Amino acid sequence: MKIIVLIYLAVIISLSFLLFQDPELDASIQRGNEIYADFCVTCHMGKGEGVPYTFPPLAKSDYLMNNREASIKGIKYGRQGELTVNGIVYNNTMDKLGLDDEEIADVMNYILNSWGNSSDQMVTLEEVEAITE
Ligand code: HEC
Repeated sequence: MKIIVLIYLAVIISLSFLLFQDPELDASIQRGNEIYADFCVTCHMGKGEGVPYTFPPLAKSDYLMNNREASIKGIKYGRQGELTVNGIVYNNTMDKLGLDDEEIADVMNYILNSWGNSSDQMVTLEEVEAITE
């Protein structure tokens, strides 16, 4: 009998984790989805696949996943020059996009958690604010 109660409890606890998986992160990803559609999709494409040798991919991008701070900085201030993503060298320009810090945090959370990417560490407003040129 005791074991059944324990199993029951374990099921309830794991279900509640699934249901209430960080609602704050979920809301940020939702907002980021809209920002992506407005500001990024033209170059980085609908599935984050980019255009080889012209616009680097965000989907499964080693650069994005390993250079969180530099990625935020690029979105915040724009970037140009050589950068290597998944073994392909890009040498192009991404202009400053004119997003505020909150929008940058949201779009980062979206691209870090889409198209097979996943990151359990949420990008916060404070983190974006702290990154300067
Ligand atoms: C006009 C086209 C354009 C738009 C719009 C654009 N980007 Fe980029 N993005 C680029 C280019 C080009 C690079 C590479 C620049 C270089 O060679 O230094 C880049 C690089 C990046 C990188 C780092 C490299 C990688 O693939 O991991 C990230 C992250 C990124 N962009 C995210 C975004 C996000 C998020 C948005 C929307 C808020 C956005 N970009 C909008 C063209 C664009």
